[in-house]
Amino acid sequence: MAPVEIAPNIYDVGVNDWNIRDFHGYSTPFGSSYNAFLIVDEKIALIDTVKKEFADELIANIAAVVDPKKVDLVISNHTEMDHSGGLPRVMHRIGEDKPLYCSKMGQKNLSMHYPQKWNLHPVGTGETLSLGRRTLTFLETRMVHWPDSMFTYLKEDGILFSSDGFGQHFASLEKFDDLLTTDIMPHAQKYFANILLLYGNLIAKLLEEVAAMKLDIRMICPDHGIIWRKDPGKIIQAYDRWSRQVQSRKAVVVYDTMWHSTEAMAEAICEGLYEAGVAARPMHLRSWHRSDVLTEVLDAAAVIVGSPTLNNGLFPTVADFLTYMKGLKPKNKLGGAFGSYGWSGEAVKRIQEELSEMKFELIAEGIRHQYVPGADAREKCKEYGRTIGRRIVETVPAS
Ligand code: FEO
Repeated sequence: MAPVEIAPNIYDVGVNDWNIRDFHGYSTPFGSSYNAFLIVDEKIALIDTVKKEFADELIANIAAVVDPKKVDLVISNHTEMDHSGGLPRVMHRIGEDKPLYCSKMGQKNLSMHYPQKWNLHPVGTGETLSLGRRTLTFLETRMVHWPDSMFTYLKEDGILFSSDGFGQHFASLEKFDDLLTTDIMPHAQKYFANILLLYGNLIAKLLEEVAAMKLDIRMICPDHGIIWRKDPGKIIQAYDRWSRQVQSRKAVVVYDTMWHSTEAMAEAICEGLYEAGVAARPMHLRSWHRSDVLTEVLDAAAVIVGSPTLNNGLFPTVADFLTYMKGLKPKNKLGGAFGSYGWSGEAVKRIQEELSEMKFELIAEGIRHQYVPGADAREKCKEYGRTIGRRIVETVPAS
């Protein structure tokens, strides 16, 4: 990807990773990008780098704008290696002694990732750095989503360089929201649900802090995906909703099945939810990636999990999903459990235990059915769906 001038003398010199399909367990069917930004002022600053294997492309992009040796300083907003992996080659190219700005935790994290003795300058919230005509202000954003994360704000141009915040795994030649022909919000929602959900409370607090600072934000430049310039407020408002886990009248029925019996139960439960006025979709865990299911969980009012009993326990994909969901800590959900079994039938109890540990409210006993569900069993599943659906309709306002 050639450099893109995003504002006068400010360039995105990052790269597209068109073919990545798995980002540490998160499916990325549209690839991703590792954005890095070059500000050409009296001093020339580079904000973030890219994955190690794309470092040469990043350096070529910088060289298309300025001689890399003229880069005066680097800012590392976050140490995760999709943004710092290119640092060794970049620092070698621009000069190992050039200042490298990072948060205090970033200083620690960088030194635990790289043996080089770089000229590290830790900065804290509110500290500024003059580039000549422009001034950068740093804002620590701990646990959004690493302990070292920070944002860098460029006052004169109203640009927030937001690291992983407001990002999306989406590779595109169109680098701005207003140039896209596809809806980017589902990609941003997936990113939030799978990367940031766990830190929802901190994000809500951070949004309050940023609002109190009354920053003039005209453009948000995340390290992944497109840049928000048409209406940056739209993604900030979405983060406000997602961080508070605002629910809609929607339920996720997620399951796996061995001989279609648990599947038939899932479909009957969805029909019951639908009859009660709740949107529901059965999501088979070998048809839907866990990260796509979590995207739906984000604004769902209920998560109803089904598993056949295999070898006295959970089906492996269901165990995987429950572990994944538990780590991301979705809140304020109703839970449900169901499953077909042959002779022992422990899976439903195991699901209920897991959901209780996640503090989901179980409003009705889960449904176990031996072997193939007939008409009566399917009706029981439907009624289970209706029961949960009625509670959702009572408690969640229509959107
Ligand atoms: Fe995109 Fe947390 O790295």
